[in-house]
Amino acid sequence: MTIRPIDNDEIQTVVSVLRRAFATVAERFGLTPENCPKNLAFCTEDRIKDDLERGLRYYFLEDGAEVCGCVALEQARADMCYLGRLAVLPEHRSRGFGTALVRHALEQARAIGVTRVEIGIISEDTRLKDWYGRFGFVQTGTKTFDHLPFLVAFMAKEL
Ligand SMILES: CC(C)(COP(=O)(O)OP(=O)(O)OC[C@H]1O[C@@H](n2cnc3c(N)ncnc32)[C@H](O)[C@@H]1OP(=O)(O)O)[C@@H](O)C(=O)NCCC(=O)NCCS
Repeated sequence: MTIRPIDNDEIQTVVSVLRRAFATVAERFGLTPENCPKNLAFCTEDRIKDDLERGLRYYFLEDGAEVCGCVALEQARADMCYLGRLAVLPEHRSRGFGTALVRHALEQARAIGVTRVEIGIISEDTRLKDWYGRFGFVQTGTKTFDHLPFLVAFMAKEL
């Protein structure tokens, strides 16, 4: 298993991994292109191109030659990064790949020199919340957004 930055010509693979991984989230929480067009289950190449233009750093996890998952870091302030776009394909879950991606993202964040990493998740997803808690993320608040049909929980970890 290896984790590496994506190449510029791999945007279509990012889209495919995100759409397939987040399809299970969309199904679980009843998210559709109508009620939640921003969900990554419906992401497009333009969205990823926009991410890259905004400076998001994407990483792939590969098992052999197969891309099984991804994660992205966005430096939002001199001292803080957002961790997002965390996705492992359904058929590769529960093998430690998600944990490896989070650990890698935290190492990269340290290497950049930030002291804090933040995430936003569906507040109702208590299993995911507990899982992030095991890496040291602590809930800092919740918020509703007009364009999202669920409550968002924010979590942060000091490095
Ligand atoms: C969250 C996710 C990346 C974990 O990937 P993974 O490779 O299975 O992670 P690991 O193997 O390191 O850890 C597995 C553990 O994740 C935990 N977990 C966290 N969220 C989970 C979820 N929504 N469903 C199932 N398990 C989840 C479970 O405790 C699981 O333990 P188990 O294997 O005993 O069932 C993966 O479930 C996924 O891609 N989910 C859809 C996208 C998503 O929710 N991304 C996070 C958005 S911020």
